Amino acid sequence: MKRVSITNCFFAIVLFNAGALAAAPGQSPPARVSSERNPHHLANMETQTVRLAIHGGAGTIERSKMTPEREREYRAGLERALTAGYEILKRGGSSLDATEAAVRVLEDDPNFNAGKGSVFTSAGTNEMDAAIMDGKTLAAGAVASLKHIKNPISLARLVMEKSGHVMMDSEGAELFAKENGIELVDQKYFFTQERWDALQKIKAAEKSRTSGGGKKFLITDQDRHGTVGAVALDQNGNLAAATSTGGTTNKRPGRVGDSPVIGAGTYANNATCAVSATGDGEYFIRATVARDVSALMEYRGMSLKEAARAALDKVAKLGGTGGLIAIDHEGNMTLPFNTAGMYRGYADPNGNFVVEIYK
Ligand code: GLY
Repeated sequence: MKRVSITNCFFAIVLFNAGALAAAPGQSPPARVSSERNPHHLANMETQTVRLAIHGGAGTIERSKMTPEREREYRAGLERALTAGYEILKRGGSSLDATEAAVRVLEDDPNFNAGKGSVFTSAGTNEMDAAIMDGKTLAAGAVASLKHIKNPISLARLVMEKSGHVMMDSEGAELFAKENGIELVDQKYFFTQERWDALQKIKAAEKSRTSGGGKKFLITDQDRHGTVGAVALDQNGNLAAATSTGGTTNKRPGRVGDSPVIGAGTYANNATCAVSATGDGEYFIRATVARDVSALMEYRGMSLKEAARAALDKVAKLGGTGGLIAIDHEGNMTLPFNTAGMYRGYADPNGNFVVEIYK
């Protein structure tokens, strides 16, 4: 969507009043602009076309290794997340509510590496990280190394809104959750056979490598990592980003990835864009990916697409793989990745859902 100038707005309003801007069925709705940017002209109009994009992790997702049933499950999970977020945006709800709702759905889905489907640490435990950021105020909340929180993204939101801090971890964060009525669960809740098997495979491969054994193990990115996230633009022109993850399989207990690091895996700023990343966390932290996308737009005047590509290229140069989803303040959207696939979805300008997995 292109930025709509004040002059264009004036003509748009004249046309709008004449009823000429009503979209015919099947056509794109008329361009709308934020009332914050044009407070006098547009105070009583529906002000902004909403946008939503989500991801469920990037990696070596190969068609040949995917069964039709499995693919259906992934697609259905992504669609459920889009529905949860988009319903909120359509009703005039906030981008924060929409991103939190979309991420919660993915956290509850065992197919994705976050919440219920979190991968295992080298100690056979589950440790989750999450973050959320409000593009309007630059408020942010992040949580790390959680062991018992059913929906880490909601605790991240609570940290943002009620703790007076930006980032909390492990027992302290869980105590704060308990005090505020956030749902805690036994570690058993996070057990899934697939993630457990992935840990055993990676441990066996490591043992074989260190003992000089020649046995080959096929370790896919699916075995190693995955992350979920959402970015949204609401009717008031506010951007938000949310990311949640179980981290990487066989990580050391205490390891924290990029997802909860504001500016690395998660960032939102109404002046530029909202970003949620997925991939090799260590590289995304070192390349400060999410903030880089915003900074390249702010300081270099790059488009969202150019900035996202440049930030991801920096990750690739360091040796990392992954992807990101981003929406800018004008409603442009980009979902680049440098892997074979990325579970992803978005609502197009007509509100139709698009779900994709492969390149
Ligand atoms: N990108 C998720 C992680 O590395 O933890």
